[in-house]
Amino acid sequence: MKTIFSGIQPSGSVTLGNYIGALKQFVDLQDEYNCYFCIVDQHAITVPQDRLALRKNIRSLAALYLAVGLDPEKVTLFIQSEVPAHAQAGWMLQCVSYIGELERMTQFKDKSHGKEAVSAGLLTYPPLMAADILLYNTDLVPVGEDQKQHLELTRDLAERFNKKYNDVLTIPEVRIPKVGARIMSLVDPTKKMSKSDANQKAFITLLDDPKQIEKKIKSAVTDSEGIVKYDKENKPGISNLLSIYSILTNESIEQIEAKYEGKGYGDFKTDVAEVVVNALKPIQDKYYQLMESDELDQILDKGAEKANAVASRTLKKMENAMGLGRKRK
Ligand code: AQP
Repeated sequence: MKTIFSGIQPSGSVTLGNYIGALKQFVDLQDEYNCYFCIVDQHAITVPQDRLALRKNIRSLAALYLAVGLDPEKVTLFIQSEVPAHAQAGWMLQCVSYIGELERMTQFKDKSHGKEAVSAGLLTYPPLMAADILLYNTDLVPVGEDQKQHLELTRDLAERFNKKYNDVLTIPEVRIPKVGARIMSLVDPTKKMSKSDANQKAFITLLDDPKQIEKKIKSAVTDSEGIVKYDKENKPGISNLLSIYSILTNESIEQIEAKYEGKGYGDFKTDVAEVVVNALKPIQDKYYQLMESDELDQILDKGAEKANAVASRTLKKMENAMGLGRKRK
């Protein structure tokens, strides 16, 4: 079986963008691949976090991974900071990274833009992400489009490491969904939907109640043309809502366009909200059940144990290749 690794930051409430771009595809992959799914809490602290909120988000994200349909018997679910090899291998990969290439990362530029003080961790996020992936001899990384550049850097770092030291790292491939790889903000549809957006109306979280969902979709920025038609360039707001509708119902964009011919945005938005509410209802029911059970901690303990065993083997190989520590018999 080939191996998959993917992570989500507990940097806020998981959004519909995270679900469509990442979580939803994980469920489809769990039967065919050896899957590692990680709550990347060390990535979350590259920007300021409230400690209590972070702890809450870590637990909530773990429950959501399972609530969307991941089976802990099939996948390894764990928290990044509970597997020390990530930070250790991350440091080694920082030492093969160049400052110039890290400064060119779009996410670094976006998140540091206009800020007076930026953490060094925000700049060195990509080598840590590379370590996350490479420690598990990952073949495939399913992510949204926003992570494509980081994945390309991961491949470059792995190739550089293999060439300079020893061929110990597997070069991973990226897997980006054909539709929904980039769900956009409901307030500014030219920007991606992000869980850390300061404007709550910009995103739908997987735990929003039906009234919140309806309100956010009804107030989503569109255009004044009044025609439900996919045109990403000229109608980014309506195109975004069409993508969401299509992915959650499995109806094609063309079918949906035909259904709303001659109808206004009001009817369309009401139905998009209903589609989202219906898709999230079973996830929310399962989530609240899990949050009240002891099952979650047991799953995370088991996941950390399994991840530690695999990650520390790769780490040892990397240390040997680089000449760190002592040779042991
Ligand atoms: N808008 C999006 N559309 C499709 N996929 C998305 N992803 C994120 N936003 C969208 C995918 O979700 C996974 C987890 O992302 P992450 O939490 O590791 O970091 P991110 O990509 O930076 O996501 P956010 O929501 O924007 O978080 P913040 O606001 O903290 O930076 C990834 O697979 C990502 O591609």
